[in-house]
Amino acid sequence: MSEKPENPWQKDPTPFIEHGESLETKPELLTDFITPNDHFFVCNETYTPPIDLTGYTLKIGGDGVNKPIELSYEAVLKLPSHTVISYLECAGNLRQRYEDILNGQLPEDDEFGSLRWGIGGVGNAVWTGVSVRTLLELAGLNPDAIVINAKGLDADSAEGGVSRPMPIDKALDPDTILAYHMNGDKLPPDHGYPFRLIVPGWIGTNSVKWVGEIVAATEEIYVRRNTEHYVFIGPEWEPDGNVLGELITTQNIKSTLALAWNAELQAGKQIIKGNGRSPHAPIKKVEWSDDGGHSWQEARLIPPIMKYAWTLFEFEWNPEAGNHTLMTRATDEDGNTQPMEHPFNLEGYLFNMVFPHPVTVKSD
Ligand code: MTE
Repeated sequence: MSEKPENPWQKDPTPFIEHGESLETKPELLTDFITPNDHFFVCNETYTPPIDLTGYTLKIGGDGVNKPIELSYEAVLKLPSHTVISYLECAGNLRQRYEDILNGQLPEDDEFGSLRWGIGGVGNAVWTGVSVRTLLELAGLNPDAIVINAKGLDADSAEGGVSRPMPIDKALDPDTILAYHMNGDKLPPDHGYPFRLIVPGWIGTNSVKWVGEIVAATEEIYVRRNTEHYVFIGPEWEPDGNVLGELITTQNIKSTLALAWNAELQAGKQIIKGNGRSPHAPIKKVEWSDDGGHSWQEARLIPPIMKYAWTLFEFEWNPEAGNHTLMTRATDEDGNTQPMEHPFNLEGYLFNMVFPHPVTVKSD
């Protein structure tokens, strides 16, 4: 369908920290409720395929539908649209923090675990598209269907396109969409043009980009991304059939500062910003500490505060010159809060414990 381009992405990499095929947003840029498209992180297994719509159709098939269909790009755009504001975060975001704190227990040669995201593998956007439910119903969804699998057109990956199966219940949630607009613009090439899944609250890998086909099935589907990767592997998790540990689906609660790692600030009163995010419920509070977690103060939350989107916070800080650390801890309306420790898992997923963010403060 496409030829391998010179670079793994198409956007200007200046606002990013480069990690091979992927781009992490410089965290100091993540100060707004909506992350602009040109600042939104990119996670590519291989590269952004240059997709031409000539000859493109979206296929919906498998034994989980009774009348398989093929739709043109324009036909999908004519279906009833649905918009969600949702953050999207890689399950491996913060992996470098995980490694720092657990003293380098990540395997160097692991294809997925070697992507050492700092804190900027996340963004928040307005996504518009068609509910996957609408598409499945158009194709005559079989009541015995238990799973769907959207396949990406990034054909150079080991399985001829990236995919990650999803149980039918989540696929039928009206907020699970096949998106074609991101922040009001046509989906940019790096973010999945012409169509991508958006699965609010779930780890980024389920939001498959460059979708060419959606398969619905009456039996489980196993691929690398639900057997060996995006799975908690370690002493706390038993392998289960084809799956090497416990499958990861939803994200977990986190908060991060909109500050560079080892940020340099001037002494004196200033506003520090960041965001809290939870897949479970709206954020209720974010606390911060500049004394290693001995004492905590509440930050101001900046509306809007809603499920699936991140919530911005800010607080006034008046540091003296010297080396400091800042910690943040988010709590949501369901009572979930960030833990103070994190169990080992082989590929370092879902690191969400409270951690110190180093800051150097200079005198004027
Ligand atoms: N879809 C395809 N086809 N190929 C990929 O490499 N990467 C996944 C997901 N969808 C990927 C994909 C991962 S791991 C993440 S975190 C998100 O896309 C990132 O989406 P973004 O690049 O738009 O930020």
